[in-house]
Amino acid sequence: MSANDVVLAITGASGSAYALRLAQLLLAAGKNLHLVVSGAARQVMARELAAEFPRNGTSSEEWTAMIEHTLAGPIASAWGFCPPATSNAAPSHGSVRAYGTSDYSAGIASGSFRTSGMVICPCSMGTLSAIATGASTNLIQRAADVHLKERRPLVLVPRETPLSLIQLENMTRLSQAGATIMPSMPGFYHRPMRIADLVDFVVARILDHLQVEHTLMNRWGEEPSLD
Ligand SMILES: Cc1cc2nc3c(=O)[nH]c(=O)nc-3n(C[C@H](O)[C@H](O)[C@H](O)COP(=O)(O)O)c2cc1C
Repeated sequence: MSANDVVLAITGASGSAYALRLAQLLLAAGKNLHLVVSGAARQVMARELAAEFPRNGTSSEEWTAMIEHTLAGPIASAWGFCPPATSNAAPSHGSVRAYGTSDYSAGIASGSFRTSGMVICPCSMGTLSAIATGASTNLIQRAADVHLKERRPLVLVPRETPLSLIQLENMTRLSQAGATIMPSMPGFYHRPMRIADLVDFVVARILDHLQVEHTLMNRWGEEPSLD
């Protein structure tokens, strides 16, 4: 466990591709991923990318292969993702350790396990609500609770529209408690040509907040003229 360790939770909001692309980039940056996937996230992935997450206990190599395979698969390959900048020299060199949602004995359930932060991408309204109330009814919610109490970065990537007052208040409460609310809302000022450009817009902002170097996007003020 070290500052190179990042918790990635994937829940059942729409946007499985954000999670896979984020995982790919974190691995390319050499991060050790502590991964928790909710049951609903498995359903959404099957629907959106016609793919399955491996069972818990699957090796890091198999998780990495699944991520690469799905991003190169029949649906996502049409979206135009580019390989991570580091992949030529060293294909994904981080690691994946996956936990079941009820595995409360996992290190990430404790504040003594050091991480550089946690991201929930995508984050369902259900999980967001549970974290906002401190429910801790599964490992994802417990790990998020730990990141808040330890005052470590917690990035939530919710997706829903429109938003009810209850959902807005939950987000306000979490923001006040120290979480970063980063809805999957890509901009269009970089003139996206492919679906990958929209996904990468959001993933780049998440990586920025986790202080992970990347070359996914030109930064505003640094990009060449578009005209
Ligand atoms: C195909 C599909 C898409 C969904 N999209 C969303 C969504 O965008 N946002 C959301 O909050 N819930 C969405 N849901 C509903 C959640 O999956 C559901 O509320 C679930 O209980 C969330 O559980 P979890 O937080 O443990 O993953 C979707 C469900 C399915 C099957």
